[in-house]
Amino acid sequence: MTVIENFEQRHAQLWGSHTVRLKHSLHERPLFSDESLAEIIDHADRRTMTISTMEDEVRSSGDWHYCLPGDLSGCEILRAVKSGRIWINFTHIAQFDARFASVLDELYADLETLVPGFRPFKRNMGLLISSPGARVGYHTDIPGQTLLQLRGSKRLWIYPASEPFLKVPEFEDVVRRVTEEDITYESWFDDYAEVYDLVPGDLLHWRLNGPHKVANLDSVNVSITTQHWTGDIRREFALNYGNGLLRNMLHYTPRSRKTSGPAFWVKAGTALTWRKAGMQNRQSHRRTVRYHVDPDAPNGVRLMERQRFGISG
Ligand SMILES: [Fe+2]
Repeated sequence: MTVIENFEQRHAQLWGSHTVRLKHSLHERPLFSDESLAEIIDHADRRTMTISTMEDEVRSSGDWHYCLPGDLSGCEILRAVKSGRIWINFTHIAQFDARFASVLDELYADLETLVPGFRPFKRNMGLLISSPGARVGYHTDIPGQTLLQLRGSKRLWIYPASEPFLKVPEFEDVVRRVTEEDITYESWFDDYAEVYDLVPGDLLHWRLNGPHKVANLDSVNVSITTQHWTGDIRREFALNYGNGLLRNMLHYTPRSRKTSGPAFWVKAGTALTWRKAGMQNRQSHRRTVRYHVDPDAPNGVRLMERQRFGISG
């Protein structure tokens, strides 16, 4: 193994259905030093870098706002991360930086060796650089995921991926991208959460679609996230997409959650046709751009004179 340490046989049985906490060695690499991160920011294709800031209280994705970096250098942006409340996400870093592509290959080579039958046909990696105290509200993600902590520490709450924590119609909307991962949260859900404090060298994987929220503790955080798709995950996606269309377009309440048989394939085919026709984009949410990054401003951001939608340009 080159990345994962302390994997036991029980973890293979838990993988995908329960939370698995492992150790990794990536945090020992110089790739994640300040100098290296500044260089990554300087040379990244900025269309692959999203910078966000957030309200004091984060209840939904509407409490997050995009920020534009302008012509700030990597060092200046890192300064804003240290003193402000900023969350940088390089959403597809392995696609433009060969060093991360090789980290992704190493990590999944380990996982495919350790977890029998685990053969994702698609994988992605994101690099997160975020401020002390930055928060991500309660949400769910569609593909399988891992989170690897590299610097600083953060707290993760993970909730059961079932009612009432994850309501089926809401999850279908997330799958169809009608909303941005927003699902109903009640503060009493916390009584049923698993809570993990992650430190450098920790790797966490949790049940598919398990709702979660994140709070950075009192330090700059550097983390890697991965997303993966297997045949089973793709079938779950098609089922939820198809059921969501039935519920919203035909006002029919789907009862079956089977991922095989003729009814499933009709739903999967309808979902594919809908997406290929470009209907998804017409319905998808848009997040506002409201701030410029400014390392000398409170929270590391300065309000724009006129907010706008989308982050290109
Ligand atoms: Fe997430």
